[in-house]
Amino acid sequence: MKHMSHDGGADAPTEILFDTPFHYMFPYAAASEPCRVKATPDTVAHLKALADAMGDPGTQNQPMPNLFDSSIPAIFTYFGQFIDHDTTARTDRDGDLSKIGDGHTVEPLDTDKVVAGLKNGRRPQLDLDSLYGDGPAMAPGAVSEAQAFGLYDPQLHLNLHHYGNGKIDLPRRADGTAIIADERNDENAIVAQLHAAMIAFHNAVASKQSGSTKARYIRARQLVRWAYQYLVVHAYLPAVCDENVVADILANGPRFMGPSTGRTAFMPLEFSVAGFRFGHSMIRPFYDLNDTTERTIDQLLFATKQPGGMIGGHLNPTLLLDWERFRPGGSKLQHARKIDPRIAQGLFQLTFGGNDSVLKHLARRNLLRAFSLSIPTGQAIADCMGVEPLKPGQLKPAGNTPQQQAIADALSQGDLDTRTPLWFYILREAAVQQDGRRLGEVGSRLVAETLYGMIVQDPSSYIHHRHDAAIKSNGVRVWTGAKGLIGDLDDLLKAAGVA
Ligand code: HEM
Repeated sequence: MKHMSHDGGADAPTEILFDTPFHYMFPYAAASEPCRVKATPDTVAHLKALADAMGDPGTQNQPMPNLFDSSIPAIFTYFGQFIDHDTTARTDRDGDLSKIGDGHTVEPLDTDKVVAGLKNGRRPQLDLDSLYGDGPAMAPGAVSEAQAFGLYDPQLHLNLHHYGNGKIDLPRRADGTAIIADERNDENAIVAQLHAAMIAFHNAVASKQSGSTKARYIRARQLVRWAYQYLVVHAYLPAVCDENVVADILANGPRFMGPSTGRTAFMPLEFSVAGFRFGHSMIRPFYDLNDTTERTIDQLLFATKQPGGMIGGHLNPTLLLDWERFRPGGSKLQHARKIDPRIAQGLFQLTFGGNDSVLKHLARRNLLRAFSLSIPTGQAIADCMGVEPLKPGQLKPAGNTPQQQAIADALSQGDLDTRTPLWFYILREAAVQQDGRRLGEVGSRLVAETLYGMIVQDPSSYIHHRHDAAIKSNGVRVWTGAKGLIGDLDDLLKAAGVA
């Protein structure tokens, strides 16, 4: 069974279950030198300076209060991370191809070599392979890898731990390792609770179906996938993207992804290595988990491994989410941070980076990874999309706070204000065009085209099954009767029994 983590080596045989293609959404731009960040002997130093300047202007132990909050419910940050882990993996590690840690020479790789050498450990479909693994075996008496691994009980429910008070945790081994198909979904306590809620949702849907054990499982998996896809399109995209871009893509179809391009399904590197990493800026430096526990983000990473993080083989109950603080309709709702170039300082001290000055620092990782994997600049992607690129004066923050000044200074080096790393560009675009409330034009199109493109390209997705009685204009009906219609994220959490 595969173990996904941001730590794994690229060629560890136990990690590989799916092997699907990465490609560039705009291959000609990626292969063209002027469309990339300018490579000089100083580029790495310039990118590090920019990354350092992106730190949230608090300190790790004293993060800024709620000044930089958006109005996006906090759980959407982790719904985004869940989508990331369901669709893309392995752009994130030092393997033979892309080495960005201390002591390595980082320079743009030949794009043909990237496409030939880098394989996605996930399917470019919103099919919840991160939840179901390879599924149970359908032949009588056979046992699949996922069953042998311990994902399923004999009734083909997904295993889940119940504390007995309605609270749940991921199933775990004695050492605390989660028994789930994608280990990255246990990298922080919030995404872990969301994954547990998805398991509970599947089990609730399965228990309402009729027929044999296998028939109930198969229908439940289909309905759960459809409900999840519906929420990606009708809840997540409207929450984080420019509504005009989403409306255009839903009405007219994606322009750069999907069957109309004549290309077979792939995961675009511009999305994995830059565009979708916009979610890193939504992460709060600290969270109120429930009425009694507040934690900084770094304390929530690998929570079961932190001092006091585990009790009786499971997440310490004091760390469990009060969903009223996270779900869209919650009575004590806290919000995601604005989408802008401010990153929580706790993400600059990642424990899984060891002492490596790049690998422990999320912003440095993102900027150097994109440089190494030859991701086109924000301006080049804007050109490809037919959008007027941001001017240097718009990319540089106008104010004179130390952080604004540091970003402006960093952008003045190495032509970074005219050949700007895509990740930074998208975050700044969100700040300039939308005051950080959602993504701007380029970011929205990249994210929405990729996610909706996957749904259009997948013949088993909900939009190709509108003839099925479960697909409604306002949601997916996973069972008849109360709580069975899933039209927003709250509906799913309620059906799962967690909210
Ligand atoms: C506490 C929360 C999170 C942490 C600690 C985290 C950390 C990381 C790290 C260390 C990487 C690898 C970077 C590299 O070396 O290239 C990564 C990759 C990535 N992250 Fe995050 N992340 C978090 C949340 C999110 C969210 C909320 C999103 C999106 C909404 C996101 C999207 C991505 C994507 C798309 C990748 C690339 C995955 C791949 O293709 O391998 N992450 N993240």
